[in-house]
Amino acid sequence: QTYQHILTSRPDPSVTLITLNRPKALNALSSPLFAELNTALLAADEDPEVGAIVLTGSEKAFAAGADIKEMKDKEYADVYKGNFLADWTRITTLRKPVIAAVSGYALGGGCELALMCDIILASPTAKFGQPEINLGVIPGGGGSQRLTHAIGKSRAMELVLTGRNFSAQEAERWGVVSRVVGEGEGVVVKEAVEMARLIAGKGRVAVMAGKEAVNAAYELQLAEGLHFERRLFHGLFATKDQKEGMAAFAEKRKPAFTHS
Ligand code: HXC
Repeated sequence: QTYQHILTSRPDPSVTLITLNRPKALNALSSPLFAELNTALLAADEDPEVGAIVLTGSEKAFAAGADIKEMKDKEYADVYKGNFLADWTRITTLRKPVIAAVSGYALGGGCELALMCDIILASPTAKFGQPEINLGVIPGGGGSQRLTHAIGKSRAMELVLTGRNFSAQEAERWGVVSRVVGEGEGVVVKEAVEMARLIAGKGRVAVMAGKEAVNAAYELQLAEGLHFERRLFHGLFATKDQKEGMAAFAEKRKPAFTHS
């Protein structure tokens, strides 16, 4: 399949790399771009060869937000009837892990898109922010909620109300990103692909269960979450990968997972 606003590749047979590719608009997230992104994400999620997905943009911009020029003349009835942005959450329904490799601007919807991924790696040049307040609106892709969960009320409130950007270093300190990689063009993508390859080499059933369990921590109370985790853990004893993983340890060899 060929796309107009994104690129897809397989840097490893087990990894799909999706690159946002509207360089002239700093990867502004237009509706056509998002439709393509959703198609590519779903295809990767359904591909039995693929174990993990990397989402990235360019050196200058992961994504500079929703497409302001597309949005500016919309009326309330349009956005309400069309449920504007509803299709943005498709990425959160994926079963396989998605790693965001962020370089340059991740603003507004771009920041929110990164926050919807499972892991964020940042280049030292990454600049995050929710500048919607400067446009007379507020975050609409989950920023006020996911950012608050990630960094706490006072910081989220400051960022949403002032619209100021925050650096890769701040993002790391606050736990928004898992880590900031070394400097240099392409480094963040290389590291993200390497991490994706590592994850894709694990038993996929366990990886999916791990993703489900961590995500449940955002939705459930502690007792329910612990119960859910225990049940998932129990269930993994019905898999061949559990037998193989534990046998391999006992026999001092590498496990050969069959994802079953
Ligand atoms: C449409 C955009 C855009 C955007 C940049 N461009 N961001 N077009 N939507 N979000 C376009 C510019 O209009 C310009 O096009 C080209 O990309 C290059 O941008 P410049 O501004 O010339 O680049 P620079 O001076 O380097 O400044 C970079 C920037 C700035 C600081 C990132 O572009 C900027 O502030 N962008 C908007 C950021 C923002 O407000 N994002 C939140 C959007 S609201 P031309 O044709 O002039 O060359 C949002 C709502 C989310 O995301 C809610 C739902 C999820």
